[in-house]
Amino acid sequence: MKRIGMLTSGGDCQALNAAMRGVVKTLVNAEEKIEIYGFLDGYKGLIYSRFQMLTGKDFSGILTKGGTILGTSRTPFKLIHEPDENGVDKVEAMKQTYHKLQLDCLVILGGNGTHKTANLLREEGLNVVTLPKTIDNDLWGTDMTFGFQSAVNIATDAIDCIHTTAASHGRVFIVEVMGHKVGWLTLNAGMAGGADIILLPEIPYDINKVIEKIEERDRNGSRFTIIAVAEGAISKEDAKLSKKDYKKKLENYSYPSVSYEVAAKIQEKTGREVRVTVPGHMQRGGSPCPYDRVFASRLGAEAGKLILDGQYGFMVGYKNREIVRVPLEEVAGKLKMVSPDAAIVQEAKLLGISFGD
Ligand code: F6P
Repeated sequence: MKRIGMLTSGGDCQALNAAMRGVVKTLVNAEEKIEIYGFLDGYKGLIYSRFQMLTGKDFSGILTKGGTILGTSRTPFKLIHEPDENGVDKVEAMKQTYHKLQLDCLVILGGNGTHKTANLLREEGLNVVTLPKTIDNDLWGTDMTFGFQSAVNIATDAIDCIHTTAASHGRVFIVEVMGHKVGWLTLNAGMAGGADIILLPEIPYDINKVIEKIEERDRNGSRFTIIAVAEGAISKEDAKLSKKDYKKKLENYSYPSVSYEVAAKIQEKTGREVRVTVPGHMQRGGSPCPYDRVFASRLGAEAGKLILDGQYGFMVGYKNREIVRVPLEEVAGKLKMVSPDAAIVQEAKLLGISFGD
């Protein structure tokens, strides 16, 4: 008999349900007797002991369903050691819930912040197995996270739609892509959508270089330019600022986001008409794409195997086309960023894509 607690934490993404289904199906098919405690709304469920008892049946029919059947919320790691408004010690409360329910392990699905807390719980002596979810694909220790490919598809669709209207009107169009502090989503959707310019957080841009590319396209008779801008993109000037000064700049920022700043500067310097489109949270909504359904199911199956083997303290990841077990302490607290020297960036440059650098 295994008693398993399960939770999804942080921003949701596609294939969370597919991954949980993968874990549970693997355990059920192994004819292991299991009790599943589904904690509601992420770590909050574990802190405040809010859970639902679930059975294998609850995980049927959810392979294609977006979102998470458990609900989710953000519990920032930097506040994890601060008592809540009623003085509750969050870490102690999570441990108490775990021990009170006599759990054998926790299955935690999440991104960066979630993994820091998962590793902390491991250090506190709890058995933890994690699964890498996020549309940002920025988790260390895995080449791929589930949710990413589905979000690439949606962001690419957005760029595809913009392409036709941009071509008709001869405009410069910016599509702002999610991804938090990293550029994986923008880089992939930008390339897939045939963007002419891609601006990433990891490659600070010079607005004059961006304009040079637009003017080069004008000279070559292209009537329009598509720019994929990561929500975390940053100019060369801003990249030189200290963290404190950059934060100050953002506090007094007059634009809704970086794309509007880029648009305003292009408009001001060239007189060209520029439009901004922000697909936003659509990128992590809807059903998982087939790739993510398969990928999340495989990761879930491996997590199930870990539980059956009594092997804890791992994230199930994907390295060099293989599903792997990565020690949690290697994952927590590190970001996987796009290297400006990465082959994909160099290949994009060979295709004529400008990174504004
Ligand atoms: O981490 C996933 C993500 O969608 C990021 O790409 C984005 O910056 C962030 O979450 C948005 O967070 P929220 O849903 O809290 O606005």
